[in-house]
Amino acid sequence: MDLADIGVTGLAVMGRNLARNLARHGYSVAVHNRTASRTQQLVEEFGAEGTFVPSEEMADFVASLKRPRRAIIMVKAGAGTDAVIEELAALMEPGDMIVDGGNAHFADTRRREAALRERGIHFVGTGISGGEEGALNGPSIMPGGSKESWAALGPILQDISAKVDGVPCATYVGPDGAGHFVKMVHNGIEYSDMQLIAESYDLLRQALGASPAELAEVFREWNRGDLDSYLIEITAEVLDQVDAATGKPLVDVIVDQAEQKGTGRWTVQSALDLGVPVTGIAEAVFARALSGHPEQRAAVGSLEGPELSGVGGRELVEDVRQALYASKIVAYAQGFDQIAAASREYGWDVDPGAMATIWRGGCIIRAKFLDRIRAAYDADPNLPTLLAAPAFAEALNAAQEAWRRVVTTAVRIGVPTPGFSSALAYYDGLRRDRLPAALVQGLRDYFGAHTYRRVDREGSFHTDWSGDRAERPA
Ligand code: 6PG
Repeated sequence: MDLADIGVTGLAVMGRNLARNLARHGYSVAVHNRTASRTQQLVEEFGAEGTFVPSEEMADFVASLKRPRRAIIMVKAGAGTDAVIEELAALMEPGDMIVDGGNAHFADTRRREAALRERGIHFVGTGISGGEEGALNGPSIMPGGSKESWAALGPILQDISAKVDGVPCATYVGPDGAGHFVKMVHNGIEYSDMQLIAESYDLLRQALGASPAELAEVFREWNRGDLDSYLIEITAEVLDQVDAATGKPLVDVIVDQAEQKGTGRWTVQSALDLGVPVTGIAEAVFARALSGHPEQRAAVGSLEGPELSGVGGRELVEDVRQALYASKIVAYAQGFDQIAAASREYGWDVDPGAMATIWRGGCIIRAKFLDRIRAAYDADPNLPTLLAAPAFAEALNAAQEAWRRVVTTAVRIGVPTPGFSSALAYYDGLRRDRLPAALVQGLRDYFGAHTYRRVDREGSFHTDWSGDRAERPA
């Protein structure tokens, strides 16, 4: 029997599409699913696309792989992943590779990688973005793990990934959990991007009284400029959709409670641990949480607000476009800061420019914008913040007045724009010569003798607040 180049276990839609993508690129693909009917169905429906080697049992699946074996797990991230890994690992040999293509938490990936490394097995936690369509036609792929595993898997992953200007959207991210970490932050940025888009839509709809179809046209127009991206493109599609049952815009019949599987929340949790202010992502996660409390929203019917509409003209559209672009720069800057902080914390040596490069295509946050981020890191790999890159600084300077008008308008008419507002506050915070953090330090020293540093001398100091109020070195 001819052995397969690579295997996929877990054939729900993502796994199935990834297996088909591999087969279409000429790899022979071992396929396995806990429920065997799915495996048969894949071979029956898509067998003509390439070479599939189906197995009903995990042992046969593993036996059908060329050595060193390369097996990709595409199961829903969670406790079940450990069971599948163990089942596979028990059948494997040193030098073999297990790839987890699910949205696992990077801490789980670090744990799994360490445990399998002890047994000589390479564990590759891999971010795969692009949804069902991407898995089939070219996703963005963010693998972590050992350099040896990248040598054996890299060419295949690059082959099946999306390409932008001929450059594959797949590269080695870094050791152990680095790939899943970068995918997690990708998702966090995805949350933030969507929140900013939603705020733009909401504000324009409320202020101008524009219809979803009219706003679809606005987004379509924006997609031809700086904001050119997949999420802006599909926003126009969703806003244009009419519900067949009621004849209303679909967006008006969808329940307004945003759900989440958790990667955005994880991003914020990790950012808190790392001390990185990812305010854009945090506001996006919290906005989803707020939307999910209809009982609270129903209970505050008596709370008053201002008149909602008739406050802006066409010029508001351009202002919102600029505010969206500026807030997006902030959100990405924060996400890249978080990747840099984790890279230092865990010793991953992640190349930010390379991450921008592989996010240019295939993934949900793919955008023209990523080219500019890549160029910024090419020009200065040690950029302290993306906001300082000349091209972005120029864009922010050009947008800041419009951005302020947008936030002011939103506040005035009572439309919540936590994404725009917090991004602007972050921008203004970074710009400040002196921050009121000095007062916070003074207060901490007053009630807790927590000490402070001075602008004019080295060392830590404490003022004897309850005594003579003299300052002493701490
Ligand atoms: C992707 C997506 C994908 C998924 C997220 C979002 O990169 O292809 O990010 O991973 O859509 O899980 O999920 P939630 O919004 O449900 O958290």
